[in-house]
Amino acid sequence: MVRTLIAGNWKMNGSPASLAVIEAVVAGLGEGGPADCLICPPATLIAQAADAARGSLLAIGGQDCHAVESGAHTGDIAAEMLAGAGASHVILGHSERRADHNETDAIVAAKAEAALRAGLTPIVCVGESLEQREAGETLSVIDAQLAGSLPDSFANAGFVVAYEPIWAIGTGKVADTTQIGEVHAAIRQTLAKRFGSTGEGAPILYGGSMKPGNAAEILAVDDVNGGLIGGASLKAEDFLAIYAAAQ
Ligand code: PGA
Repeated sequence: MVRTLIAGNWKMNGSPASLAVIEAVVAGLGEGGPADCLICPPATLIAQAADAARGSLLAIGGQDCHAVESGAHTGDIAAEMLAGAGASHVILGHSERRADHNETDAIVAAKAEAALRAGLTPIVCVGESLEQREAGETLSVIDAQLAGSLPDSFANAGFVVAYEPIWAIGTGKVADTTQIGEVHAAIRQTLAKRFGSTGEGAPILYGGSMKPGNAAEILAVDDVNGGLIGGASLKAEDFLAIYAAAQ
């Protein structure tokens, strides 16, 4: 059994006032259930969010890290710094970072190594564009991203993969359950073949316009082990409703 993970990605949203959302999620989770729960706020809020979540079921993560431990990299944040601030996970290779910051698969793999070095659980994102899907390239694109973005060291580590079709992110368009099931099954096969038991046990999250109204249906698809939620993670009520759908 792969344990379910419901993860929120706040992206570049959130101010100190948003710590109230963290507090509300902590209160709403209570003693917790059969799924893990994570929120990745912007880096400026990680330490305070981790303080607010300490001792609760809610874990706090980062949205990116640099590959090296320290040095002359103005504006960047090392994986060790995220861990020091109280993060336990880090999202890597999100399509917005691949697009906005020219992150290649090799860069993502180096960041994933850094995350493991710092004791963080990496959440590596993959996903096809609409053009690639319409050209029938979805599975080959995903496979190439997995081959290039996941380091060999994942054979001995805990990690998470998120399937996020680019055309479904923030658009309100959701992949249908057949499309999701097809890609998740292919990802599971690839992970199991390459990484053995850690590949069989790694949660595979779906991301892209997931919300309270569609979460139960998506989470019921084979090989879907949770969600990476953007917009709907900004409101405690919506995020908790998605978590409840994972029960
Ligand atoms: P969305 O974002 O839920 O707002 O579509 C998901 C993501 O990009 O992680």
